[in-house]
This record gives sequence, C-alpha cells and structure tokens, in this order.
Amino acid sequence: MAKQIKTIGVLTSGGDAPGMNAAIRAVVRTGLAHGLKVKGIQKGYNGLISDEVIDMDRTSVSDIIQRGGTILYTARCLEFMTEEGQKRGAEICKKHGIDGMVVIGGDGSFRGAQALSKAGINVIGLPGTIDLDIACTDYTIGFDTAVNTAMEAIDKIRDTSTSHERCSIIEVMGRNAGYIALWCGIANGAEDILLPEKYDNDEQAIINHIIEGRKKGKKHHLIINAEGIGHSAGMARRIEAATGVETRATILGYMQRGGSPTVTDRVYASLMGSYAVDLLMEGKNNRLVARKDGKITDFDIDEALAMTKNIDEFEYQVSQILSK
Ligand code: ADP
Ligand code: F6P
Repeated sequence: MAKQIKTIGVLTSGGDAPGMNAAIRAVVRTGLAHGLKVKGIQKGYNGLISDEVIDMDRTSVSDIIQRGGTILYTARCLEFMTEEGQKRGAEICKKHGIDGMVVIGGDGSFRGAQALSKAGINVIGLPGTIDLDIACTDYTIGFDTAVNTAMEAIDKIRDTSTSHERCSIIEVMGRNAGYIALWCGIANGAEDILLPEKYDNDEQAIINHIIEGRKKGKKHHLIINAEGIGHSAGMARRIEAATGVETRATILGYMQRGGSPTVTDRVYASLMGSYAVDLLMEGKNNRLVARKDGKITDFDIDEALAMTKNIDEFEYQVSQILSK
C-alpha cells in the first residue's frame, strides 16, 4: 500500500531561478488544500542538515508569485554529498514528521533527492534552473525569464554596437549547456552563435564572417558566446587584432538569474508545484516532474538522470541559416 502522506516539506537548491517562488507557493497551497501540513526548509540541503525548518501557511506564500529569487533561500551543500549528511537530512525530516519532500533545483539537487529517497523519504523533484539542461523535460523553471532578460540586454548592446560600428561578444550563462545562447542567438539575430555542444574553435571562420559583413556594409556584428566556451575577453582581443574592427566583450552574468518571472515561468511553475503534491498524495516517490510534448508528466529520477540532452538539431540549423 502507498504511504499515506501527512506532512510535506519543500526546499530550493542549487542556483536560484525566477519562478521558484511560484512553485513554492503552488506546493504550499496545494498541500494545504489537501489537508496536509507544509514545512519550508531554508537554504537547500544546508538548511535541512542544520534544521532550518519553518511552518508554512497560506500567508507565508502571499505576494511572492511575481518575485524573482527564492523566499526559502538556496545553497550548495558539500556535506549532503556524503552518506552521513544524507542520513542526517532524513533524520531531520523524520523529526518534523516530513514524509514527503519537494526538491526544486537542477541535476545536482536531484542527485541529493535520490539520496533522500533512498534514506526513506518520498521525494519529488521540480526542474528549477535557468540552464534548461535537464534531459527529460522541454521546460525548466526560470529559463524563459532568463532568456528574455538576456535578449533585452543584448538588444541594448546592439544599439551601441551599431552606433560605433563595433563587433560585440556577449557571453550568456548556461553552465555547460548552450540553450540560452542558442535562443538569444535566434531572438537577437546574432551573426555568430557559439554553443559548447557545437563550437569547433574555428576563430578564423568568425574573423572571415566579420570581414565579409563589413564588405556588405554591415554596421555591427553580434557574437553570442555561451559560458561553457567562455574566454570572451581574449576572443575580443584576438578578433580586433585580426579584423581591425573594434571589438568589445560583455559578460551578462547574474542579471540573468534575477527579476520578476514571465507569465510562462509563473504558470508552468504553478502547474508543476501542484502536480508534485498530487504525486506525493498518490504515494509516488523518486519522480521528477517534466513538461514533455506540451504536457506536464513525470519520470523516475534515476532514469531522468541517466538521459542526455542534445541541442535541438532543427533549432540549431535555423540559427545557422538565419545568422549568415
Ligand atoms: P543544481 O541543482 O542547480 O544542478 P548543484 O549541482 O550545485 O546545483 O547541486 C546542488 C546541491 O545538490 C549540491 O550542493 C549538493 O548539496 C546536492 N548534490 C549534488 N550532487 C549530489 C550527489 N551526488 N549526492 C547528493 N547530493 C548532491
Ligand atoms: O545553474 C545556473 C547557473 O547560473 C549557471 O548558468 C552558472 O554556470 C552557475 O549557475 C553559476 O553558479 P554560481 O551561482 O555558483 O556562481
């Protein structure tokens, strides 16, 4: 028989992402609607181990759906990667009567979730990361806001690039994944889009592209460079020396993680948060909520973590055709 859940916990872990608050709100309010007690764990697995657990009611999540960041705070926690840390985490859950936990975070956080599940707590993961790098899902909480923030910033840089007839290299986040770079590349109409999954280090091709552009009368040249490739400043120096075109690098950085979530992030985070509580109510364990082929669904966490994600070939081909 499925375990009857009475008290659930919710935590955010890893990098913060816009929409995490909407997800927390949905978990809390859906839990309360089902007659469950809901606890918030502050500062991710760090706060779990150090017993930073608070009671959540309807008003604890009032006025947060529009806010970036996470009201529960987030952290990275080395100790939770040890068996001892995981055992301590499960003990704290038991101390508070928490029999079901919702973990909102990225791949790393789901490895922690797996461990907590093995230690006897029913766990459901929600994909919360701006990087979109979780293989089983077409959507992650925060990507839409982050990519919109980056797109708007790049539009502004383009104005300066055109006015000064410069080449601009803009480095966007994404850890080892190129999704933010690819989407900005398409949305900002960039001339070159460098993705860790695809880039062959052929800087000469970029240099030739800039020189051809100048001959055609192009006033600017935008290069979107993914964080996973990095080294934008050095690239700018080499490109300027080779082309004679003034070249500047901008690293967008943490502005991509903050800000008020878009409608997409608010709505999908709400749906996923609610869905996670439904799974716990059904006695499900070690599942990861995903959006696949237009529907909210769920995967076994072990299977989800074993999947690999590739850049969508059609999106990549279109980006290449449109940028040349
Ligand atoms: P993200 O969840 O955004 O991918 P991290 O990779 O930094 O971020 O992981 C967040 C936290 O998840 C880590 O600081 C750690 O506490 C926990 N974690 C990561 N990997 C493991 C693991 N193999 N076992 C247990 N916990 C882990
Ligand atoms: O996972 C989100 C992310 O912003 C990545 O794009 C980036 O590589 C990383 O987190 C930065 O992490 P930190 O907050 O530890 O600097």
